[in-house]
Amino acid sequence: MPAETPPQAGRSGPAGQVEALREEIRRHEHRYYVLDEPAISDAEYDALMRRLQALENEHPALVTAESPTQRVGGAPRAGAEKAAHSSAMLSLDNAFNEQELRDFDRRARELAGVETLDYVGELKLDGISMSVRYKAGRLDLALTRGDGVTGEIVTANARTIRSLPLTAPAAGLPDAFEVRGEVVMPRKAFERLNSQRLAAGEPAFVNPRNAAAGSLRMLDAAVTASRRLDYFAYMLLADGAPVKESHWEALEAMATAGFKVNPHRARLGGFEGLLDFRNRWIDRRDSLPYDIDGLVYKVDAGALQRRLGATAKAPRWAVAYKSAAEQAETVVEDIDVQVGRTGAITPRARLQPVFVGGVTVSRATLHNEDEIARLELQIGDRVLVERSGDVIPKVVRVVEQAAGRRPFHMPADCPVCATALVREQDEAVRRCVNVNCPARLKESVLHFAHRTAMDVDGLGESLAAQLVEGGLVKNLADIYDLAADKLAALERMADKSAGNVTASIARSKSAPLPRVIYALGIRYVGERTAQLLAGHFLSIDRMFSASAEELETVEGVGSRIAESIRDFFAAEQNRTLIERLRGAGLQFEQDAPPERAESSAAAADGKTFVLTGTLPALTRDEAKARIAAAGGKVSGSVSKKTDYVVAGEKAGSKLEKAKGLGVAVLNEDALLALLSAEEQPPPAR
Ligand code: IVH
Repeated sequence: MPAETPPQAGRSGPAGQVEALREEIRRHEHRYYVLDEPAISDAEYDALMRRLQALENEHPALVTAESPTQRVGGAPRAGAEKAAHSSAMLSLDNAFNEQELRDFDRRARELAGVETLDYVGELKLDGISMSVRYKAGRLDLALTRGDGVTGEIVTANARTIRSLPLTAPAAGLPDAFEVRGEVVMPRKAFERLNSQRLAAGEPAFVNPRNAAAGSLRMLDAAVTASRRLDYFAYMLLADGAPVKESHWEALEAMATAGFKVNPHRARLGGFEGLLDFRNRWIDRRDSLPYDIDGLVYKVDAGALQRRLGATAKAPRWAVAYKSAAEQAETVVEDIDVQVGRTGAITPRARLQPVFVGGVTVSRATLHNEDEIARLELQIGDRVLVERSGDVIPKVVRVVEQAAGRRPFHMPADCPVCATALVREQDEAVRRCVNVNCPARLKESVLHFAHRTAMDVDGLGESLAAQLVEGGLVKNLADIYDLAADKLAALERMADKSAGNVTASIARSKSAPLPRVIYALGIRYVGERTAQLLAGHFLSIDRMFSASAEELETVEGVGSRIAESIRDFFAAEQNRTLIERLRGAGLQFEQDAPPERAESSAAAADGKTFVLTGTLPALTRDEAKARIAAAGGKVSGSVSKKTDYVVAGEKAGSKLEKAKGLGVAVLNEDALLALLSAEEQPPPAR
């Protein structure tokens, strides 16, 4: 049922008029912003809005947050507040050509154990993803993707997006549901915004994606309101899990509920279907009013999606197909090398700046010396560079050899600390093996302080370089001994900024365990793997003493990652680092596993629960966490598929429904007993 009762025929008085007007305006907004089929002129629409505004001014008690007049942005937020996602917001694996697409289809079929798969094809919208939760038909919470586990709360900003409904009828949807999708800035809006910015002497946005991201995250939602963003829904969840039995059904259900679902979607049969859809879209991206950066293919059947599951980073049931990246020609002015966090030496081409894929590029990676040889590249040559999405630009080939070209030779020694570089057998890269190399240390500091790691504000490139070069930071743990007066004496620092940095360093001590693990910079341990490791071990010490076998039981951890973790903890200087970070007060433990706990042999494993009423001891969140830890799933509504309804005091209609359907009803004691029960082993024969 919609949250607000639709106006009834004959209902009069201001309340009735206001409701009738709102319904009419919503209907026109849906036609205009979602369906792109306006039924009235702009002037007629404005007149309706003015009438509603006047009535609301006269009767302020009738104003609700869901009124169409409220899409203006409330009071500015003080700062970025965060909240946890209902389930991880994953990324997508890429396929860059037909062969890679074929491989994806083959792997998926093999894993699913079927001859052929049905897919849904969609456009890959080039914006920023956002999750929006609805409760009792009302928009309740909007979150950016953030690190995939927690996102930034942008509810006030999201409310200003005209194509995002503030109310959604729950017919066919659970009481509480979540929509995930993409916020984009249409090209026209982007161009208009940039010309306004340039006229006002402000810097232009590089591309519509950056403009959309910047606009959504404004602390002042009134600015977001002026930015004309659009929202396309592509996922429907309840309690973090899909609601419908197929992806196609979910898209249809969202469209019916008033969400904007991209019309360029199709049901596709088998690999041939994937190719057809690609061929249909290959040359048409420029005809769209917004940017896309490829296509997305998703296995349609929910049961098969569940069977395929996900890696640490992306679902195995979906793939992003990226059309050939954008390319441009320019000249290689020089080649230098960069020392990475792991000591890897990467040659980079310094380019004559060139505009490609929406940004100006002045550097391109050359990966390693074998690549330079393969390209037959020398300094001065004219080259073709390519940029796709966020990937670092690369040199594709030499277009024209320059007359006075100069060959490049990899240095034998580290350009920063002069230690002899080592090229291990079977490795394409040379490495600086000096763990105290200032260049390595600087990169480690940057990684440690990054927004997705310990999140130390103000510790960027320039400060990291000064800290390392000035000897203030010789070891990551030294960051926690930095005094504000020492910082204030550095270049481009003043008392205030030094104070901000030390305050941010102090705050970082409360960063949760997954971030601490990620910040350590263990090779191959990215954000998601760090989250899974934290969820499994719950403490650095337990992870530290784990065997390779135990490490490999963690989802997404294979022998390569396990070995890298073991090597990290085996190194003396890393053990000292860990002890000093512990001394500084960083979070080395966490309480409850965010993912399913090891006790998945419990009787609750795989079962669906619905909670209703108030339980005597457990809060709703605690009950949910315990059920999830035992492998169960919590759903918002009772159906024949529900295994248990857990009823507390003042349980309502859900309990009635459960009784009607013959679903087992538990009280809190029975729930706790069930959660601690082991699954019965099969009877011996
Ligand atoms: S599905 C687990 N569908 O692409 C499935 N994503 O590289 C994840 N995106 O973070 C997303 N259009 O921001 C999906 N039709 C679409 C999409 C889409 C754009 C973005 C999304 C995601 C990124 C993954």
